[in-house]
Amino acid sequence: MWYESRITQALNIKYPIIQAGMAGGVTTPELVAAVSNAGALGTLGAGYMSPEQTQESIRKIKQLTDQPFGVNLFVPELPDISEDVIEKANEWLRPFREELNLSEKPEVQKPSASFFEKQIEIMMEEQVPICSFTFGIPPKETVQKLKKRNTVVIGTATTVKEAMANEEHGMDMVVVQGSEAGGHRGTFMGSFEEAMIGTMALIPQTVDHVDIPVIAAGGIMDGRGVLAAMVLGAEAVQMGTAFVTSVESGANVQHKEAILTSHEEQLVVTSAFSGKPARGVQNDFITKMAKHEKELPKYPLQNALTKQIRSEAAKQNRPEWMSLWCGQNPRSSKHQSASELISEILVQVNDIVKNQARRW
Ligand SMILES: Cc1cc2nc3c(=O)[nH]c(=O)nc-3n(C[C@H](O)[C@H](O)[C@H](O)COP(=O)(O)O)c2cc1C
Repeated sequence: MWYESRITQALNIKYPIIQAGMAGGVTTPELVAAVSNAGALGTLGAGYMSPEQTQESIRKIKQLTDQPFGVNLFVPELPDISEDVIEKANEWLRPFREELNLSEKPEVQKPSASFFEKQIEIMMEEQVPICSFTFGIPPKETVQKLKKRNTVVIGTATTVKEAMANEEHGMDMVVVQGSEAGGHRGTFMGSFEEAMIGTMALIPQTVDHVDIPVIAAGGIMDGRGVLAAMVLGAEAVQMGTAFVTSVESGANVQHKEAILTSHEEQLVVTSAFSGKPARGVQNDFITKMAKHEKELPKYPLQNALTKQIRSEAAKQNRPEWMSLWCGQNPRSSKHQSASELISEILVQVNDIVKNQARRW
């Protein structure tokens, strides 16, 4: 059958569809469980969660499903940023804070590696079956530790070179994130501009250069996209945007609405919100901050500086200042349950395979 692959076998799932781990509250335990219960793979986006919140969410997921699920983590980045750079960024953010009646500048904690280590401890303690990573490759000892506990480890790449590096580090499989993808770029080798490769070009070149199975991500929203990715050699797909607008998603209503009403030419890549390039719906914050982009503190510091603004903007219904992550295929988004989305994909693929392909 078209849906059987090394990935469905290794992850013990029926369909080669992975709901992307999306940090920031989108991937509620209800969403993760609904996807896994429908025969695909639900993933908790734990990148911004404390180890305690991560553990609590994992336990909730386990109550809602007995099927495999994944947890997605960020490989830590620890840039050394001067107080001057932070001060300057705070100055540029001041007008937004004032308008939102946020008087205080946030206390910014410098990132530390121990946070990530604690999260890995939770993965071990909870025997999480699948763990995916972005923003780099975890240290080899971490990979080995998880694999010893039978956790399948999945990396992220935006170029063939990064996919090969994931393979060399012992990752079991790799997500290739095409330039269409919503959310942060996973690029960790070289400049992000050079790593803006479309999904259709990235899949075949990667499968020709690595032996580990490849998962395609970026702009895939329906059965046509799933089948196309598999024809190009991917053994599963990872979809983000399509699940953000699902009923079970924890995304803010403004975020869901922005995706449901956006067009392909409105999606831009910006570092304004977090200090790391990410694709989302163009808005006033992105436009006003564009001139400062090159001078902003790097991720995760800029992310910490804008956190209050983003959450207060959501509360005050100011979507023009929220980060509205979205891939380049928003016209295909729908507001429906996760299981409806997955069933629809299966119907579409079966229709192409049975009816259309016969005519070609
Ligand atoms: C709202 C949102 C949040 C995301 N957060 C994460 C994340 O925390 N970790 C991660 O590996 N990828 C994240 N991504 C990227 C996805 O893994 C994937 O590459 C992307 O969604 C694929 O493109 P699509 O959105 O067109 O489906 C996020 C994507 C979106 C839309």
